[in-house]
Amino acid sequence: QKGGFSTFMEKEIHDQPTAVADTLRGRIDDRGRLQLDGGIIHETVLNSIDKIIVVACGTAAYAGLVGRYAIEHWCRIPVEVELAHEFRYRDPVVGVRTLVVAISQSGETMDTIMAVRHAQQQGAPVIAIVNTQGSTIAREADAVLYTRAGPEIAVASTKAFLAQITAVYLLGIYLAELRGNKFPDEIESLLEQLDAIPSKIQRVLDTSEPIRELARTMANERTVLFLGRHVGYPVALEGALKLKELAYIHAEGFAAGELKHGPIALVEEGQPVFIVLPSPRGRESLHAKVISNVQEVRARGARTFVIAEEGDTDAANYAEQVFYVPSAPVLMTPLLSVVPLQIFALELAAAKGYDVDQPRNLAKSVTVE
Ligand code: M6R
Repeated sequence: QKGGFSTFMEKEIHDQPTAVADTLRGRIDDRGRLQLDGGIIHETVLNSIDKIIVVACGTAAYAGLVGRYAIEHWCRIPVEVELAHEFRYRDPVVGVRTLVVAISQSGETMDTIMAVRHAQQQGAPVIAIVNTQGSTIAREADAVLYTRAGPEIAVASTKAFLAQITAVYLLGIYLAELRGNKFPDEIESLLEQLDAIPSKIQRVLDTSEPIRELARTMANERTVLFLGRHVGYPVALEGALKLKELAYIHAEGFAAGELKHGPIALVEEGQPVFIVLPSPRGRESLHAKVISNVQEVRARGARTFVIAEEGDTDAANYAEQVFYVPSAPVLMTPLLSVVPLQIFALELAAAKGYDVDQPRNLAKSVTVE
């Protein structure tokens, strides 16, 4: 059942190359149309939408945050990402031209179900990105795109997260094509870039020993900070969430640009800070700015641990330790950079003797509001 691993979570982390590959398989036909798994939203409706709102909770919401960068870039449609439990209580502006995308591993999260119902009452079409076949959200949405991560047993979400990002990207590629925002060959190259991701995730897994070793030395830490920028920002949030839920260590994720607006006050001698460094091949200025953030926290005594792209030689000059992930197009990097952070949380929790599959106080799916 655990495939030779000692915990479900470890197995599920190792399932990630397959989860992404399976979610991609056969999804976009040669005419660029997305193969949904059920229901239908007419192309005329999708062509007329002027806004997308993603509703989700926890890790699924972070997948939505990652997806926002890609969809806005490819489709030029504004995307909001809303925690499902906040959505209906703020009288959101939603109508027939708003596409609501509900993301949920279980498909049974009550907050997300209620957000879907609220959106539908306002006339909005709803697409569900769900892992569990036949679940409530899958049934109630107008259309469904299943993530094919397979059953996720561990309470902490890992492979579902990568599959959710993949599915949101498929939706973005399809909408871009449908709305004529990209030329077909560009769409093709995006799909090829996604196809290359599973083997790169495998490489991250195969080279994970250094981060495991680090985690085993950090069982006594009281707080760990995570910084990221652009698509690295939701990765930082997810890294912090994994550490909170598994290792019961206080952890916060910040947008690196926010550092000087407050969080830097937290940094004192010995404070561990993880920094998800943007690719030097992305916007040059972002890479340089986050390198400065590494220097700023280090100057105040922080221990700096950087997740960087292979070949980014700059990183080693400023960090106590660098964990390299294979290079990938900027928008695809979260599928790689989050993996060392998942492993870090798992290994640290295991070093503290905690049950990583069933962390205290948490349920796999939150079926009450
Ligand atoms: O089943 P869902 O994806 O709707 O669950 C949403 C969150 O409850 C879930 O992602 C939660 O944050 C996980 N424990 C994170 O690891």
